[in-house]
Amino acid sequence: MQKIVAVDLFCGVGGLTNGLAKAGIDVRVGVDIDPACKYPYTANNSAKFVQKSVADLGPEDLSFGTSGLKLLAGCAPCQPFSTYQQKADSSDRRWNLLNHFERLAEATKPDLITMENVPNLAKQKVFHRFVKKLKDEGFQVSHEIVDCSD
Ligand SMILES: C[S@@+](CC[C@H](N)C(=O)[O-])C[C@H]1O[C@@H](n2cnc3c(N)ncnc32)[C@H](O)[C@@H]1O
Repeated sequence: MQKIVAVDLFCGVGGLTNGLAKAGIDVRVGVDIDPACKYPYTANNSAKFVQKSVADLGPEDLSFGTSGLKLLAGCAPCQPFSTYQQKADSSDRRWNLLNHFERLAEATKPDLITMENVPNLAKQKVFHRFVKKLKDEGFQVSHEIVDCSD
């Protein structure tokens, strides 16, 4: 199998990075705004931790290296779309973070993208715009709701 190198946006404490690494993927960098994530992220993973808002991230911050297939991975904050949230508030600035994920996909042109979130996101305009923009960029896009216990 060809080597896959990844960058994990909104990496948190590194759950996704850890799963990707267990699947044989070389995660180079994780990005999160919360400094409290740095210790658990780096203690449990060999990737570099960058503390920065994804909104302020440029393509030059995403060091995929020069060899292997590039995977852009991430899980934008789901609170605006979660069922725990009583009503979706379109003024919540976190909605915009998905647009920044797409902006970085457009700028870095990875071979693969994975974006995980809560099921309610699929009902939102911001998600349909995200899918359309990726398709317009030439990506093949598929999405589904899965039961993580499976
Ligand atoms: C659902 S969690 C991600 C969980 C992570 N994928 C894991 O497997 O552990 C979303 C993360 O987004 C981060 N976040 C929120 N706003 C951000 C921003 N503007 N830029 C970067 N990270 C941000 C939060 O600190 C939080 O850790």
